[in-house]
Amino acid sequence: MEKINEAVKYIQSIYSEIPAVGIVLGSGLGSFANEIKIEKEISYGDIPNFPVSTVKGHSGKMIFGELSGKKVVAMAGRFHYYEGYNTEDIILPIRVLKYLGIKTLLLSNAAGATNKTFTVGDLMIINDHISLLTPNPLIGKNDESIGPRFPDMSEPYKKDLINKAKEIALKNSIDVKEGIYVSVTGPTFETKAEYHMIHVLGADAVGMSTVQEVIAAVHMGLPVLAISVITDLGIGEENIITHEEVLQAANDAEPKLACIFKELVAQL
Ligand code: HPA
Repeated sequence: MEKINEAVKYIQSIYSEIPAVGIVLGSGLGSFANEIKIEKEISYGDIPNFPVSTVKGHSGKMIFGELSGKKVVAMAGRFHYYEGYNTEDIILPIRVLKYLGIKTLLLSNAAGATNKTFTVGDLMIINDHISLLTPNPLIGKNDESIGPRFPDMSEPYKKDLINKAKEIALKNSIDVKEGIYVSVTGPTFETKAEYHMIHVLGADAVGMSTVQEVIAAVHMGLPVLAISVITDLGIGEENIITHEEVLQAANDAEPKLACIFKELVAQL
């Protein structure tokens, strides 16, 4: 709580408005920041207790401003387990967003498809997840002032937000998929056998982020919507995957994601 408060106090000393929505921008999705009427940007490196993002395609700052007439805060860059951070560091920004006052959290990520009907550039609304060896960030002493020891996970992704996102997509002729996201540690992409296993497990996409953040949000009672951009196909086709390919595919699909997030924020 002390770490959270320090970060929140610092941010509020620079930007005093209360954001209504927090948005986390995944790999290759940083251009979404162009949609925001920016009022203030704060580098992660300046925020007390924040880790510093090390990944290409993640610029590492909080962007405060207006989107669809609402105050929002966007995180350009997030923290991944594969970077070597401990889970507490990975979820600290999510906790800070909550204590800055956000009422809804929108997450995005790049993911590989394990559903054979998906193609590169598809959006997938996450309706559930499976954590595959990504440590639960709530392991350790629980602070009851933040949330309960044993959080319910029956609806980590809010149905009403999913339905709103689907309606917006339909209205704008955006083809959205819906499915289960598996989180892995990375940084290796999956072997053919691993993609196959994830497919057999019943999951539709796999990525290296999001789940730990969602757990932190659920712990705090913060409603979440998460959308994956399918950047590569894990099964079926040629599966030599590069980070550059992931970034490019995410960047190409970004306008569709921006449309959904923008209209959703207007409705919140
Ligand atoms: N696997 C894991 N993480 C990813 C992938 C993938 O295929 N694509 C983008 N992030």
